[in-house]
Amino acid sequence: MTDTSQLAILRQEHELAIALLASLQEQVRALASSSSASPSSADCQAQLSQLRSAMLLHFRIEEEGLYPDVKRIAAEGAPKVDILTAFFGDESDDDLKAHTLLRARLREAAGVFDQAQAGGMSRELASRLGNTLEMTHDLLNRHASKETTLIFPLVERLLGAAQRAAVEEKMWSLRQSAKAHLGQSPDRGRCV
Ligand SMILES: [Fe+2]
Ligand SMILES: [Fe+2]
Repeated sequence: MTDTSQLAILRQEHELAIALLASLQEQVRALASSSSASPSSADCQAQLSQLRSAMLLHFRIEEEGLYPDVKRIAAEGAPKVDILTAFFGDESDDDLKAHTLLRARLREAAGVFDQAQAGGMSRELASRLGNTLEMTHDLLNRHASKETTLIFPLVERLLGAAQRAAVEEKMWSLRQSAKAHLGQSPDRGRCV
């Protein structure tokens, strides 16, 4: 059966973001080589904008819907609390720092397109964009790998069924309100 939980959605978002970024990097490399088959700068900008929006929502769900609640529940005495609670706190704090770095790299990449609006996307600008995306790629891979293999399994281990359901509900609500804000149709069912 397909896992439609919010944790599963966060995992899927990692995979989608990595694939989107890889595609964007390929296009920016073509842009830097200025071959006749180069994609347009506007297409690349639109892809970056899509990636950035997806990542900002992803971070928000984790920052407002996942980590604070798991930390609070663990501090109040989750059924499976043990030494892993302190470990979870350290790892989630570390992940929040990675979010800050990723936001900065994505903002930097968007800034290159802003500069290109004045004089076009020169090879130098395209090369700078490529370097920024390379750093983004490394950060994103580390983020996804750490959460998928370490942090999310810790969440699943720390929380009891009722607490897990409450955290899932919080993340679901955040996602629905973000969709409503963006004018998209909220999901009809619960993603738990
Ligand atoms: Fe994260
Ligand atoms: Fe994540």
